Amino acid sequence: MTLEQRLAVCRERVDPALERFLPADGEVPTRLVAAMRHALSGGKRLRPFLCMEAARAFGLRPETVLPTACGLEMLHCATLVHDDMPCVDDSDLRHGRAACHVEFDEATALLAGDALIIGAFECLTRQAEEPDIAPERVLRCVRELAEYTGVRGLVVGEALDIETEGRPCTESELEFIHLNKTAKLIICSSRSGAVLAGAPDDQLARLSEYAEALGLLFQITDDLLDVDGDTASTGKPVGADAAAGKATYPGLLGLAAARERAELFGARALQSAKGLPNREVWEALVEFVVKRRH
Ligand code: FPP
Ligand code: MG
Repeated sequence: MTLEQRLAVCRERVDPALERFLPADGEVPTRLVAAMRHALSGGKRLRPFLCMEAARAFGLRPETVLPTACGLEMLHCATLVHDDMPCVDDSDLRHGRAACHVEFDEATALLAGDALIIGAFECLTRQAEEPDIAPERVLRCVRELAEYTGVRGLVVGEALDIETEGRPCTESELEFIHLNKTAKLIICSSRSGAVLAGAPDDQLARLSEYAEALGLLFQITDDLLDVDGDTASTGKPVGADAAAGKATYPGLLGLAAARERAELFGARALQSAKGLPNREVWEALVEFVVKRRH
């Protein structure tokens, strides 16, 4: 199976499960739920995939960790809703469709994002209903999601992404931004599946190294696509980073050096993948991220 086919299989499992976590028809005002559904549709399901593949690699059936996989996707989608809002990146287009605040309105988008963040933690705790998984492992995943995405993680990365707009930024500041705003949720997603499966600490550390490199590679390729991609493939505006004065590798180092940096992170991820079970999936993911056009 190619990685695209594996991602498609993951989507077939995750999308109905996400739908089950949303309120049923008529339970709450539909506009809010419609905005949440809009926010949840259209992504690659990379974070659920990482969680489910890590679970598989360490001996669990991937379906077992579906609640956690759904929670990770909810949190990711919430970040994109808030990221696109006028007070943050002010972007009208996401996944080839109107951004949530454009399709609905700013207040509804803000609240849909809020509900998805809280829903993410609800999903993670519901993992405890799975009889095969020890509650301590679930609790560890909840704590890690808060740590990797809170004030020492994704949110601080985004705060610095905004603070550095329009001013010179050092390479170490840029790596800090990418590590936090992007790589930390990718690390957390991979670790969650492995934690639930009871992976030993040395393997968790190796998986974290792998996912950190993959996450940094993912954000550089995102920034490269903002320069040399096209809206038809990426489903979002091109040239937005330069227009907003965002700190990016292409902006800081130039295109050629940014591509070299991407290769370096790709090589680092491949090196870490060598010591992981189901190595071929982790390797295929690196190739997928390097070649992605969306
Ligand atoms: C996309 O990056 C955005 C992120 C990686 C993170 C955004 C985070 C927030 C808005 C903080 C909100 C936090 C929570 C927990 C909801 P990008 O803007 O470089 O990429 P893009 O081209 O896809 O917009
Ligand atoms: Mg953005």
